[in-house]
Amino acid sequence: MEKEKMKVGVLISGRGTNLQALIDACADADFPAKIVLVISNVADAYGLKRAKDADIPTVFIDHKAYPTREHFDAVIDSALRESGVEFVCLAGFMRILSEEFVEHWRNRLINIHPSLLPAFKGLDTHQRAIDAGVTITGCTVHFVRPAMDDGPIIVQAAVPVLPGDDAERLAARILESEHVIYPLALRLVAEGRASVEGEKTILKDGAPTAESLINPSPG
Ligand code: GRF
Repeated sequence: MEKEKMKVGVLISGRGTNLQALIDACADADFPAKIVLVISNVADAYGLKRAKDADIPTVFIDHKAYPTREHFDAVIDSALRESGVEFVCLAGFMRILSEEFVEHWRNRLINIHPSLLPAFKGLDTHQRAIDAGVTITGCTVHFVRPAMDDGPIIVQAAVPVLPGDDAERLAARILESEHVIYPLALRLVAEGRASVEGEKTILKDGAPTAESLINPSPG
């Protein structure tokens, strides 16, 4: 008999390339999770088309239709529960979630951010990394906590900042790694290999890389 897969809901606001990476990963019969619902707060988000193309149910929930953040979040929460969602992935979801929602989904809610957290939280991440003159930045998948871009880190990828980079070029390079680490993080969690203890993620049978990324290269 097929092993029961973890039922995942994905929240998006835009083009959904990370959603696509998760959809592609879930297409593998061995992947331990399946996406059962995609929610967007933007009616024409391209990610909705990606979900429909993959035969995944979608809903548009307009944040502007609700008087408060808590009302909006309660509607999202109901939609997730009605679909039997057990775990939630934020993938370019551009709304801050209420503390109540985050606590309800505590350790069952993850996010991807295009920096090596805790550096460069918030918006405009790539330009701020360039302006700071860092030579290595990257991306992070983490469990969500009420504070923005905060919470136990599951997987990170280090990505070099190269001479002549502008925010767009750097973002494109980081995005390639995002598409690798988001499915990896979801797999680790769904297989019960990533759990939170004392606000740190403990990885079971993880294979941490021992290599350093040095930029510029000494060679
Ligand atoms: C990604 O860079 C992600 O890290 C950030 O928002 C962007 C979403 O891109 N949270 P996409 O919609 O997945 O293409």
